[in-house]
Amino acid sequence: MKDGRSGKSIFRKDYTAYPWDVNHLDLNFDIGRETTIVRSEMAFHLKDQTRSTHDIVLNGSNLQLVSLSLNDCLLSEDEYVIDGETLTIPGAPRKSVLKTEVKIHPQSNSALEGLYVSGAFLLTQCEAQGFRKITWFPDRPDVMTSYRVTMEADQSEFPVMLSNGNQVAQGDLTGGRHWVRWEDPFPKPSYLFAVVAGDLALVEDKFTTQSGRDVALRIYVEAENIDRCEHAMESLVNAMRWDEQRFNLEYDLDIYHIVATNDFNMGAMENKSLNIFNSKYVLARPDTATDADYQGIEGVIGHEYFHNWTGNRVTCRDWFELTLKEGLTVFRDEEFSSDMQSRAVKRIRVVRDLRSRQFPEDDGPMAHPIRPDQYVEINNFYTATVYQKGATIIRMYHTLLGEAGFQKGMKLYFERHDGQAVTCDDFRAAMADANGVDLERFGRWYSQSGTPQVHITDHHDPATGKYTLKLRQHTPATHDQKNKQALVIPFALGLLTANGEELPMQLEGETKASGGTRLLLMEDTNEEFTFINIPEPPVPSLFRDYSAPVKVFYDYTPEQLAVLITFDSDAFVRWDAAQSMAQGAILEQCRRRAKGLEMRLDSSLIKAFEGILSDRMADPALLAEAMILPDEDYLAEQMEVVDVDGIHAARKFIKRALAEKLQALLNERYAELNDGLPYQKTPTAMARRVFKNVCLSYLTETQKGESITAAQLESSDNMTDTLAAMKGLILMDSPQAEAVLADFESRWSEDSLVMDKWFIMQAINPGADTVNKVRELMQHPAFSIQNPNKVRSLIGVFSMLNPTGFHASDGSGYEFHADRVIELDALNPQIAARMASAFNRWKRYDEDRKALIKTQLQRIAAVDGLSGDVSEIINNALR
Ligand code: BES
Ligand code: ZN
Repeated sequence: MKDGRSGKSIFRKDYTAYPWDVNHLDLNFDIGRETTIVRSEMAFHLKDQTRSTHDIVLNGSNLQLVSLSLNDCLLSEDEYVIDGETLTIPGAPRKSVLKTEVKIHPQSNSALEGLYVSGAFLLTQCEAQGFRKITWFPDRPDVMTSYRVTMEADQSEFPVMLSNGNQVAQGDLTGGRHWVRWEDPFPKPSYLFAVVAGDLALVEDKFTTQSGRDVALRIYVEAENIDRCEHAMESLVNAMRWDEQRFNLEYDLDIYHIVATNDFNMGAMENKSLNIFNSKYVLARPDTATDADYQGIEGVIGHEYFHNWTGNRVTCRDWFELTLKEGLTVFRDEEFSSDMQSRAVKRIRVVRDLRSRQFPEDDGPMAHPIRPDQYVEINNFYTATVYQKGATIIRMYHTLLGEAGFQKGMKLYFERHDGQAVTCDDFRAAMADANGVDLERFGRWYSQSGTPQVHITDHHDPATGKYTLKLRQHTPATHDQKNKQALVIPFALGLLTANGEELPMQLEGETKASGGTRLLLMEDTNEEFTFINIPEPPVPSLFRDYSAPVKVFYDYTPEQLAVLITFDSDAFVRWDAAQSMAQGAILEQCRRRAKGLEMRLDSSLIKAFEGILSDRMADPALLAEAMILPDEDYLAEQMEVVDVDGIHAARKFIKRALAEKLQALLNERYAELNDGLPYQKTPTAMARRVFKNVCLSYLTETQKGESITAAQLESSDNMTDTLAAMKGLILMDSPQAEAVLADFESRWSEDSLVMDKWFIMQAINPGADTVNKVRELMQHPAFSIQNPNKVRSLIGVFSMLNPTGFHASDGSGYEFHADRVIELDALNPQIAARMASAFNRWKRYDEDRKALIKTQLQRIAAVDGLSGDVSEIINNALR
């Protein structure tokens, strides 16, 4: 196993507290690209007052130990034991001061964990277990201590040196060197530690908190990016203000730093007062970044800022509790985006993402509860389940308790646990106690994997005016759990007449009816709700606002779906009904095609889409969401055995047929929206652009599509419109596509983030030939297998977003991808493991493809020295 990691499972039930308090940590960095020397001094106090000695156990990985001393006595090699990633000092006295000196090698660190190099600077990434690659330490989140960090380096190569907290001293040294000292007054776990050193430019602003303190806001970037920070800064200010207004949470230090790097395994990291960001989530200019990028920046800046309270001030006891901070913080960033942009659109995008990424995960070889019970490599558990499903479970507290009740719970959570490392049970207890409610059974959401299904039937009795809904919940067995329990499921309901009017709802036994949405509760496997005074069979509007993360089964007629699409008061239900109708049509054509029958377009779908397109009252961004057909992977999840080519052909057929039938209306709407006004980044302008570009994507399926698309490309003044047009030309196989790609390449060849888009456009192009293009693009000067953004853009997009390419029937996509997983594993196991998960759904394909994939999985599994990261994914897939 790489890095001395064991490859064995760790279990949640085995948690034991660390026996020592670490009262202080003093760190000294002598910074160099090739070699950095790290000296540390740690004060250990034994927690158990009755004992006089105890072993001290520390974590370390790839460290070159220079010296180790205990209470000022140098330890010889027989006075400590290094075994894999742990160092044990047996029988250390109850008050022990430990000093260590190690050498580390940033330049050769390609895993991007610990201290590593990115362009003109050095930086660290410690979550989850990267601190142990910097120095020996109890590298676990429940060991919190205060840090003092001193750095020295060459002044001209490393003019900027940053760490957490406040800068307290600095000075010059001989030989063109200088030093800086930082102190963080807040005790923190090691995963929140960070240093940055190098040549960086900065953009500065300030924020005055609600209590009147000034906070210096500084964004550090490489000099050429200095004109792309405005949106990130604005987002940060908005996030700080929002957290005060909505959660009454104020920032707690005088400085807030953000550093942008091109070399990052994840999106961004919430290190205390020194966030480190993938440059993708900081840098934006209208000509380089799309509206989706702007929204992504706002969301991620918010997310990392919100961690300051939900993650940093109150952190996790151990990594099994990850969703405590991530699920909650995703919920908070979703709410932030909802308050900044459109709540309904955000909700729809969140649900789309949950269904297309988390549902498959929860039904596959890596299925796990939001709080897992075991893992081999924690990096493999930063999943859609922990994050996105975790956030929907936080949202259910909010649904059950209301905004005021939820905020009461948050307040109590902070009163009880500020400065502590706690568990999801502590969070749930705070919510329950603050509201005087019992959330015992609700706790099952934390321990059960799999997506619950809710099967609904109904009956209307015209004689009595009674309407009964019967709900049955069932969670299918997953690889990790055979028997499932009934969950508490909030069920938000509306009832509509056939004309789309909302019916007042009165349950049997209630004295009066109420209008709007009813929040009902499923607590057992079977629940029944009977409403009285219902004059006609209603159209049920189910799980409004997606009130629980479940799959809903109810046999709607096309007429009922049409009523919901046109009239329901809930934007999510309107969207969901349109998606169901489109999904039904596509899957039906897929079946017809498999039987050799001609595909055809149903008139109900045409009518529904005509209605959407003609709506001039609704938010255009909502109309755009309704027009976007379910993606191929999501459709694949609905089939017993995935028909890769059938889904592609059927979806394409439906899209083209809709475009042809609705061409006049599409043209009209496109023309209205294509107003020729200069670019603006307001939510209104973005909403118009997204709808315009969805209309364009339909028009590219028609005869006149090419000229409209080319005209848009010609006149575009922003990356959103440019990319939409380029994608259109590529997808329609236009003869102009090649020249357009070449133009784009020569214009942006020096711009790493824009070149990512260029790789994506080509990797996503459907068809069995794309694998050759992708292989060729790996030789492009802008590509680097060492850079995660490049790997995700070219290799990740091909294997995860291009089903007809990846699943080419000759297995060429699989073989290519397995080669990449093996190649990456030697460089960056975290990224290799992410890529390896592209094979996770392999058992859902036909026998031929299954055999081809299995061969590749076995080939990867057989690699000598495979990392724990990749072997966990591959072994689970093969099991
Ligand atoms: N704490 C994580 C970043 C992280 C995760 C670092 C795993 C190292 C290992 C951060 O708060 C986070 O969740 N980032 C997300 C983006 C966010 C908006 C959901 C990410 O990086 O994908
Ligand atoms: Zn996070």
